[in-house]
Amino acid sequence: TEMVSVKDLSEKIGKPAAEIIKKLFLLGILATINQEIDFDTAALVASEYDIELEHKMDKTFEEVLSDEDHEDDSKDLENRPPVVTIMGHVDHGKTSLLDVIRSTHVTDQESGGITQHIGAYMVNVHGQAITFLDTPGHEAFTAMRARGAQVTDIAILVVAADDGVMPQTIEAINHSKAAEVPIIVAINKIDKPGANPEKVMQELTEYGLVCEDWGGDTVMVPVSAHTKEGLDKLLEMVLLVAEMQELRANANRMAKGSIIEAKLDKGRGPVATVLVQNGTLKVGDTIVAGTAYGRVRAMLNDKGRRVDEAGPSVPVEVLGFSEVPEAGDVLYAVEDDKLSRQVAEERRNKQKIQQMKVMSKVSLDELFSQI
Ligand code: GTP
Ligand code: MG
Repeated sequence: TEMVSVKDLSEKIGKPAAEIIKKLFLLGILATINQEIDFDTAALVASEYDIELEHKMDKTFEEVLSDEDHEDDSKDLENRPPVVTIMGHVDHGKTSLLDVIRSTHVTDQESGGITQHIGAYMVNVHGQAITFLDTPGHEAFTAMRARGAQVTDIAILVVAADDGVMPQTIEAINHSKAAEVPIIVAINKIDKPGANPEKVMQELTEYGLVCEDWGGDTVMVPVSAHTKEGLDKLLEMVLLVAEMQELRANANRMAKGSIIEAKLDKGRGPVATVLVQNGTLKVGDTIVAGTAYGRVRAMLNDKGRRVDEAGPSVPVEVLGFSEVPEAGDVLYAVEDDKLSRQVAEERRNKQKIQQMKVMSKVSLDELFSQI
């Protein structure tokens, strides 16, 4: 049977929830604001206000969208590349590590094209792909999580062997733990004279990260971005941890992904780096992300080349949005051309109402402060 919460009913018929609860009480029903009541009861309450409740309580476009986001049948799932974020304290060598990994692990036919910076890129290790997110530090990570985008499968925590655990190291550990993302520690700069990897391992035990040699379950790999020592081992460990996670996706459905970063480009309009997380995004697809919607006009991969499709774990630059979406926004490709626009408009209206509420509160506060 059709159910509606007291809160939704109150919004639908424009009557205070408290009054509705009172009326329900008189009908012998003890209800709270979040309680679901059946259609007949709801209709009865509405009729007390001379309002006739329509039988089909229309769904919001947001609900239609989330209904389309059904779970995949396990038979449709295939392995997908792991998505890895590199975190760590300032100057511990995150960018240096990313740079050497990238420069040593693109295939010959791809190389030469690594000029594009799209905030994410893929490398190839013994025929297996790994996606790296080049997010600018923890803030982006936190922001994305706060907005519901869980994009990272594995975090590589970079700790400089000559500096040890520092404030942002601890922050990174906390973020990864909160997001339940497995951590692989890369103890970097082991080429330096003052390097002391053992000391780093010791310090990390205080934060619950105990290396396997010491009976723990955290993978720790001593590396050097300068001599490239340990890098192959690090990448192998990434693949190993990924394998245990059984990362899977269904390439044969409409795409769902996350906005990694976005900007307004003078010549090209709104441009967003999208990480496809499920399904396949195609040129021509109707899309919505936050309050931005549109149609994929063109896509560029991490090497700056035009592509027609992007499957699970593939990062692409997407052109064709109506406005600049925000990092962390979830992207959906939808079958129905109108739906993307409707969802975006509904969200914008909601934002407006939210802003109006804040503004009216502010002006009331101001009013009172002046009395
Ligand atoms: P932020 O982006 O500022 O947080 O720094 P980062 O973590 O990206 O560090 P970055 O890669 O910029 O490296 C900082 C400094 O450490 C640079 O001068 C690098 O050359 C140096 N460095 C990085 N890795 C190594 C290494 O393995 N060995 C040595 N000796 N120096 C390194
Ligand atoms: Mg850096």
